[in-house]
Amino acid sequence: MAILVPGGAGYIGSHTVDRLIEKGFDVVVVDNLATGHLESVNDKAKFYRGDIRDKEFLNDVFDKEDIDGVIHFAANSIVPESMEKPLKYFDNNTGGMITLLEVMRDHDVKCIVFSSTAATYGEPESIPVKETDSQVPTNPYGESKLMMEKMMKWADVAYGIKFTALRYFNVGGAKMDGSIGEDHSPETHLIPIILQVAQGTRDKLQIFGNDYPTKDGTNVRDYVHVMDLADAHILAMNRLLKGGDSQAFNLGSSTGFSNREMLETARKVTGKEIPAEDAPRRPGDPSTLVADSTKAREVLGWKPQHDNVADIIASAWKWTQKHPNGYEEED
Ligand code: UFG
Repeated sequence: MAILVPGGAGYIGSHTVDRLIEKGFDVVVVDNLATGHLESVNDKAKFYRGDIRDKEFLNDVFDKEDIDGVIHFAANSIVPESMEKPLKYFDNNTGGMITLLEVMRDHDVKCIVFSSTAATYGEPESIPVKETDSQVPTNPYGESKLMMEKMMKWADVAYGIKFTALRYFNVGGAKMDGSIGEDHSPETHLIPIILQVAQGTRDKLQIFGNDYPTKDGTNVRDYVHVMDLADAHILAMNRLLKGGDSQAFNLGSSTGFSNREMLETARKVTGKEIPAEDAPRRPGDPSTLVADSTKAREVLGWKPQHDNVADIIASAWKWTQKHPNGYEEED
């Protein structure tokens, strides 16, 4: 019995693979290494390099391995990039899901946990955001993931493939020993950028937008620790393997932090000055995103262990200090 993890060499994927192994699962990782890092994949996982849009390749993996469920991370996930290259997102994200569901159907694999996003809601109708709120994405990334949720819904109706869509809010942090962490190239996410400035590999932070209708004019986001997120995937997979029905869950901390508050917290955690300046708004950014994660706590029994941003930033700082150039030096 094995869990297939497409995208298991990416940031959230590699932390989930690590946790799955720790919990005794057999894990098969599929990744094209377009953005992932082989070094981030736990040695005990079986690794296949390839693209999920390549049906022959994927069929071959399903033929060779005894797959019981899929935890699907393989996707592009950079909001600003998706504004410039929307078709890349519909090809890789949405297109990849078609092949994956076809191959699951053909091999009678009936469980999928899916890496969805708060970006499927767009500019929320009210805060905190509930799973039942309307989903009107403001960028192609969110749209591509919403289409993937809808594909799974109809694949359930037609083929009985049960899904759990986990809608992440803002993910941060690293494994507590700093051995694996976040490394994107180019980096666009707030926490790693702040920490690059703290360690001196970037000059300054630019804060995108200071005139949003928020407490200090900067965007407000809801941060969740990557290891807590990993745990939620395992709880969701166990629930599906036991016959659970298809559902969507928000994963966040239910507390919002502004970009300026994140900067101040990072200054305290690192003890560094971290120069910053105000910059124009970034296209596609909703003003405020904060989750109501009650359903995940009640239905999945999810209990986040690191529910404050100082902890999240501290673990990311540990990773940054241990790996000042990310995985680069190990390539
Ligand atoms: N930001 C800056 N300066 C930077 C980088 C980011 O001010 O150099 C700001 C952004 O404008 C935004 C906030 O920091 O207000 C967070 O930005 P991130 O890029 O870290 O994260 P996003 O909120 O854009 O997106 C993240 C994930 C998406 C997910 C979304 C849902 O990357 O996959 O959260 O909340 F959809």
